[in-house]
Parts: sequence; structure tokens; C-alpha cells
Amino acid sequence: MTAPRVFHDPAQLRAEIRVLQAQGQRVGLVPTMGALHEGHLSLVEQSQAACDLTVVTIFVNPTQFAPGEDFEKYPRTLETDLQLLSKFDPVWVLVPEVDAMYPPGSTTVVKAPRIAQPLEGVHRPSHFDGVATIVLKLFEVAPADMAFFGQKDFQQVRVIEEMVHDLLVPIEIVRCEIVREKDGLAMSSRNRYLTAEEREIALSISRSLGSTSRQIESGEIDAAGLRSKMEETLLAAGVDSIDYVAIADPQTLESVQTITAEVVILVAARVGSTRLIDNMLAAPPLP
Ligand code: PAF
Repeated sequence: MTAPRVFHDPAQLRAEIRVLQAQGQRVGLVPTMGALHEGHLSLVEQSQAACDLTVVTIFVNPTQFAPGEDFEKYPRTLETDLQLLSKFDPVWVLVPEVDAMYPPGSTTVVKAPRIAQPLEGVHRPSHFDGVATIVLKLFEVAPADMAFFGQKDFQQVRVIEEMVHDLLVPIEIVRCEIVREKDGLAMSSRNRYLTAEEREIALSISRSLGSTSRQIESGEIDAAGLRSKMEETLLAAGVDSIDYVAIADPQTLESVQTITAEVVILVAARVGSTRLIDNMLAAPPLP
């Protein structure tokens, strides 16, 4: 176990990364908001397998939370996070202050690409501009060769892929599979908000995703029918409200009517006061 090296100054981190890259080392970046769990650690593992050094950033980014969302109560567990990261070596950790990422007086914002508009974009209209802005800044201060993102935030990964493409950012985006608890619940820093009873209800999300994906894999092609069955199941299980259940093209995120190729099934729902998202890819049987 080696305590990771912690940076607070983004400029110092960038300078030191540049030195390593000049020596031919490859750097992997894992952007996080902290409250690390096995999902984050699997991103670090994948970065370690592909790169010489992994840089993890821990920053609860204020601009991706709308007023009334959980910015203030978002779990901040820096000491535990650093302990969890100490099993990886070498790992550098950037923990910047808000002023270091948003210098006083800054007004520049990245307008997220069009793929940000459906789904999350309908329910959290400014969210992806905040994500795109901070992720581009993180790519500037930690100019890594590769950056690792979890597919649990499926639309977020697509937004970042499009942004990197459109703005010619020289970084490879690596999508990593969702890590689930043994019972199927997708790992999320927000799971710690759930009471035991709510957690039981939350399981209906991954279960209904699993059941829908099995039906698609068995040849069901009617997306509208599958969506309404999922909504019924979730509400019957005790989910308080559903922002969306969608069956979409994984590339464009456009809604699919008849399933003839791989789709992504996406859910955003509220259990108690906690908003959870999850998704699953599913492909119809070969003709
Ligand atoms: O997925 C997250 O934790 C955040 O949205 C990210 C990518 C670190 C940007 O703040």
C-alpha cells in the first residue's frame, strides 16, 4: 500500500505529466467526483493495465448540479477515497479547490453536443454543459493519453465522445462496463442515500432492465410494448416516479420503435428522494 501522491494545484500536475510524457510514459485519466466505489476502482484498474501512470481527479463539480439538486449533500469522503486508491501504484490524485477549476470571473462554458438533448437533457437541462465544461478543463490540466469513463452514465460517455471528436481533443476515450453489486444494483455514489427498504425497491431497476434485455434477445421487437411493461413493473415495485424509460440507438440515443439491431435500454427513476439511472445493452437474435 502506497499513499497516492496528491496535487491541489492543476498547473503543477500538468507540468509533471508533461515531463513523464516527454520520457515516453503513457498517462491514463479517471475523472471522478469522489465517494469512490468498486465501479471507480475498476476504471483505475483498466487505466493501470493500459498506462504507466494513472491520474484520478476528485472534484464535486458545482456547474453540473442545478439548484435544488444534491450538490451540498453529495458525499465527500476524501480520506477513504485516498485509502482505496493506495492499493494502486503509481496513482496521482488531483483534488482542486473550486477556484482552481473556475478562476473567479470565469464565464466560458462548453455547450454540450446535440446528443445531450434527449433523456437526461430533458430532465436536467444544464447538466451536460456543466459536465462538458469540467471534463474539457480536466483534459487540459491532466493532458492524458486515455480517459476512462463508466457506461453507467451512458449518455455522459456519448456526450464526452462527441465533444472530443468535435473539439479535436487528442485523448482516447475508453468506455468501461457497469460494475454491479451481487444482487444487480448498479454501483453509484448516490446508492448511499438509500435506506434498506429503498435499496430493495431500487433493485427493480436492474431486474427490469435484465428482463427487458432477455426479451429483446429472445426476439421481442416492439419497443413501445416493452417500455410500458417496464414502467408498470417499476411503479408496482414501489419506485416513486420515473423520469424516463427509453429504448434507443446506442450511437444516436434516438428512440427506437422496432428493434432490429443492438439497442440501449435506459432508465432514470426516483426512489424516495434519490434519483437513480441505469442502462443495459441488448441485441436481437441473429436472423
Ligand atoms: O461521472 C462523474 O463522476 C462526473 O460527471 C465527472 C465525469 C467526473 C465530471 O464531473
